[in-house]
Amino acid sequence: MRRLKLGVMISGNGSNLQTLIDACENPDYPAEITIVVSNRPDAFGLERAESAGLPAIMVDHKTFDNRTDFEDTVHNILKDHGVQLVCLAGFMRLLGTDFVNRWKDRMINIHPSLLPSYKGLNTYVRALEDGVRFAGCTIHYVRPEMDNGPIIMQAAVPIAQDDTPETLATRIQGYEHKIYPEAVRYIATGAVRVSGNKVIFGDPTMIPSKGLISPKPSNLS
Ligand code: GAR
Repeated sequence: MRRLKLGVMISGNGSNLQTLIDACENPDYPAEITIVVSNRPDAFGLERAESAGLPAIMVDHKTFDNRTDFEDTVHNILKDHGVQLVCLAGFMRLLGTDFVNRWKDRMINIHPSLLPSYKGLNTYVRALEDGVRFAGCTIHYVRPEMDNGPIIMQAAVPIAQDDTPETLATRIQGYEHKIYPEAVRYIATGAVRVSGNKVIFGDPTMIPSKGLISPKPSNLS
């Protein structure tokens, strides 16, 4: 089986990186990680990569005079490692238009909200302040505008009345860890294609037909 070559870009803890590492350890999983790139020297994800025996490179953006030089360096590292799909996994630096376009439809991101709601930072706090019933997470192809691009997969997470930003974050991250390896699997197996600003699944039965209601209506079980 040919496995899709992943380059995973991180800035911090790397729990999503870990789920990809774990998925790729299964020989039947259709992808493998060929390089991990961090823009921060203190990213714990670098230790996760090392523990897994994966090549990892730290490219500290602060040591570059400008964004173009930083992104050219990252681009060359990804190319040198044969990367076919870039997975942004808690990579907390905006990427320039040139870099994004060079990886168009070959770079995905995970974001802790139901996009297009709550782009940017502090998504849990903002969702709680607004009193919305559902929060969640999204995997999407990356476009130059921040937290924008064709959506591959989302998980909707009901907000509990006693949720704090921390409890909500923990629950949503649990779903992030479920959907990231699945989204990569869909891409690697050719189950999805991009059409305009949408992602189309070849098999429409993969899309569930039932909705989720919160709070539970009294006349439904
Ligand atoms: C994740 O919750 C991810 O959704 C978020 O950063 C966290 C990284 O966690 N990404 C963004 O906010 C991007 N806009 P991790 O380092 O443990 O995977």
